[in-house]
Amino acid sequence: MILVTGGAGFIGSNFVLDWLAQLDEPVLNLDLLTYAGNLENLSSLEHDLRHIFVKGGIGDTKLVPELLQKHKPRAVINFAAESHVDRSIHGPEDFIQTNVVGTFHLLESVRAYWAGLDEKAQSDFRFLHISTDEVYGTLGANDPAFTEATPYAPNSPYSASKAASDHLVRAYHHTYGLPVLTTNCSNNYGPYHFPEKLIPLCLLNAMNGKPIPIYGDGQQIRDWLFVKDHCSAIRRVLADGKLGETYNVGGWNEKANLDVVNTLCDILDELKPRADGLSYKAQITFVKDRPGHDRRYAIDATKIERELGWKPQETFETGIRKTVIWYLENQPWVANVASGDYRQWLNKQYV
Ligand code: NAD
Ligand code: TYD
Repeated sequence: MILVTGGAGFIGSNFVLDWLAQLDEPVLNLDLLTYAGNLENLSSLEHDLRHIFVKGGIGDTKLVPELLQKHKPRAVINFAAESHVDRSIHGPEDFIQTNVVGTFHLLESVRAYWAGLDEKAQSDFRFLHISTDEVYGTLGANDPAFTEATPYAPNSPYSASKAASDHLVRAYHHTYGLPVLTTNCSNNYGPYHFPEKLIPLCLLNAMNGKPIPIYGDGQQIRDWLFVKDHCSAIRRVLADGKLGETYNVGGWNEKANLDVVNTLCDILDELKPRADGLSYKAQITFVKDRPGHDRRYAIDATKIERELGWKPQETFETGIRKTVIWYLENQPWVANVASGDYRQWLNKQYV
């Protein structure tokens, strides 16, 4: 089996669902269920014995070693993190605790477990750490995209905490020989995205007749990666990635925020027109910029294509349409997230 941490979050839950749809290998899912964890994402696995959910933190130095000994996973995939830049600006401490201290404790627990495995199991074992393109800092309009050799220059408490965790992961390979892999991906989007991030927030606000907030001039550029493409990249890296290496994962989709939101509005205008006949674009509202806002991220995903034969299947146009349709077709999920009722899911389903 594999151990997935943070598997009730946006990317982690997509990963668990895709994994069990395609493979028969069980998943042990360890998630602390912070505000970002939503077990409703995994409701289709309720009766699937291949999915074992455990509520707990990666930094729990009693629970994690016990789980590792009991279930003997052949790999750990670490999605667990505090992930929202704006929250890291308002309150950085949770980011240091989970992303830095938590990853450190997880690495220590995994190192002790790995050291006790027999030689074959040791060499087959993998620790795959999920990181972000934000560790590379910000780009000017004409700069080349980030490669795996771009120096780290994180600018927000979030990206600094992710950079710190990446360095620890690297050091555990170099110093202790732990068989690690790291992926640095761009902005994901798709089903089960928590509505604090740009795309789901704008979708929900549009549908609820609220202002659609654009920070600053809306010309900040991000690369957009459909979450299912990200999941297939992780499976490729886990299967064939070279130990100790990092792999950039991107969608080859650089877009300015305002263009992303205009595209969202166009699709909504077509699929769910406003009652008054106006475009959803009428709801776009420019608001105060984020402090220290990185201007541009761009990912050069050549290495993963050349070495592992992975490239994204979705263009931004196909992926964003699928995403809007998913939100329109999953109104109960949207309503539970918007009302906060998703936090009751654990009690409703598991007690
Ligand atoms: P998310 O915030 O949606 O989910 C994080 C999950 O981790 C939640 O289920 C939460 O309950 C859990 N968690 C938090 N602290 C924990 C702890 N101490 N122990 C166990 N579980 C804990 O995040 P996401 O968007 O799914 O991101 C997953 C990973 O991918 C993160 O490491 C993030 O830094 C990285 N990443 C995300 C994006 C993106 O666009 N979303 C882009 C690049 C990298
Ligand atoms: P976000 O989804 O928070 O991801 P990240 O900061 O990790 O890239 O934001 C994506 C971009 O959208 C970023 O440039 C900030 C911007 N943004 C807005 O303009 N308005 C919003 O309400 C949010 C949440 C983000």
